[in-house]
Amino acid sequence: MNDVTTITVTGEPGYDITVGTGILHLVGEALPATARKVLVVHPPTLGARAAELREILMADGGREVLLAEIPDAEQGKRVEVAAFCWQIMGQADFTRTDVVVGFGGGAVTDLAGFVAATWLRGVALVQVPTTVLGMVDAAVGGKTGINTAEGKNLVGAFWAPRAVVCDLNLLESLPRNEAVAGFAEVVKAGFIWHPQILDAIEADPAAATDVTSPVFRECVELAIGMKARVVSEDFHEAGLREVLNYGHTLGHAIEHAERYRWRHGAAISVGMVFAAELSRLAGRLPDAAAARHRDILNLLGLPTTYRAGAWPTLLASMQRDKKSRAGLLRFIVLDDIARPTVLQAPDDSLLFAAYQEVAGG
Ligand SMILES: NC(=O)c1ccc[n+]([C@@H]2O[C@H](COP(=O)([O-])OP(=O)(O)OC[C@H]3O[C@@H](n4cnc5c(N)ncnc54)[C@H](O)[C@@H]3O)[C@@H](O)[C@H]2O)c1
Repeated sequence: MNDVTTITVTGEPGYDITVGTGILHLVGEALPATARKVLVVHPPTLGARAAELREILMADGGREVLLAEIPDAEQGKRVEVAAFCWQIMGQADFTRTDVVVGFGGGAVTDLAGFVAATWLRGVALVQVPTTVLGMVDAAVGGKTGINTAEGKNLVGAFWAPRAVVCDLNLLESLPRNEAVAGFAEVVKAGFIWHPQILDAIEADPAAATDVTSPVFRECVELAIGMKARVVSEDFHEAGLREVLNYGHTLGHAIEHAERYRWRHGAAISVGMVFAAELSRLAGRLPDAAAARHRDILNLLGLPTTYRAGAWPTLLASMQRDKKSRAGLLRFIVLDDIARPTVLQAPDDSLLFAAYQEVAGG
């Protein structure tokens, strides 16, 4: 038996996240005993692995396993794709006691979660993330969703999985730039919660982002542990969960300005440097801790600057986002490493000064 780490999300409903290498067989054990039908939702890139998973899930006998191959990345997060899955389920007489498995990156786990949340008003869901971002973020915490023509993630539901299985072997086929971009969320966990992640990156940045290394696994487990702890306390994002938005306010504006051609992790990398500079200029974060952001992200080859002239567009985008939430412009800032707090309605001049610190050519 391989070495498996179990991280538990408590609350109602609680569930386990298992992390290890070569642990796909655990997906079978995570399915509800009542499930006679399983819908495995996967992207085209994982067709062969999905077929392998299907064999594993059918080995017990008595289960019908349906594969739903959906378009790649954001193209998969559309209502037409959800309807395609609902059609397969309808034609297979998929019942309340059956189960959906999300097998892919965050786009797939978001779509699969949404399909599970909506079919017959909710059926069981098991998430099997296959990207770094999926493992440390998207598949943990029960947020599901799809995009509409008007914007990203506008439609969705909170729908907790009954289990999350993170088989690190699956990451070996992930392109390096995807792995590093996803690792930005691990770095975020370092800044807001677990400084030992930052120490590990500084000690050996290459090992930290090598998906086969023990250091990578340690950092990923710490990041999952943080997310599990936060969502255990605040499933519906009423309070504590907001700290997870560190770097995301500006990051989302950059993703929007780039029409989602930038990887999410690259955008939040710039966003974290901005948030650190905002914290420093607001008199909260020591200079050295702000500088550490840039140093660590540079070590990993993640971007730390964005176009100088883009500020008016980015500010307008953040304001729109704020309006859509009927609230004030809020930023997660740091009083120190691992001490996140909220900065509400900062002056435009302070925001601009912080942006000057990330503005490149
Ligand atoms: N629900 C949440 O809480 C939450 C949190 C963060 C992000 N998200 C969502 O996650 C999505 C981004 O997730 P992502 O970064 O994983 O992107 P993604 O799902 O688009 O995957 C990135 C690419 O990697 C490929 N891929 C996936 N696994 C692979 C593997 N093992 N080997 C080779 N290629 C593989 C995919 O086919 C895709 O082309 C966004 O839609 C975002 O909104 C959701």
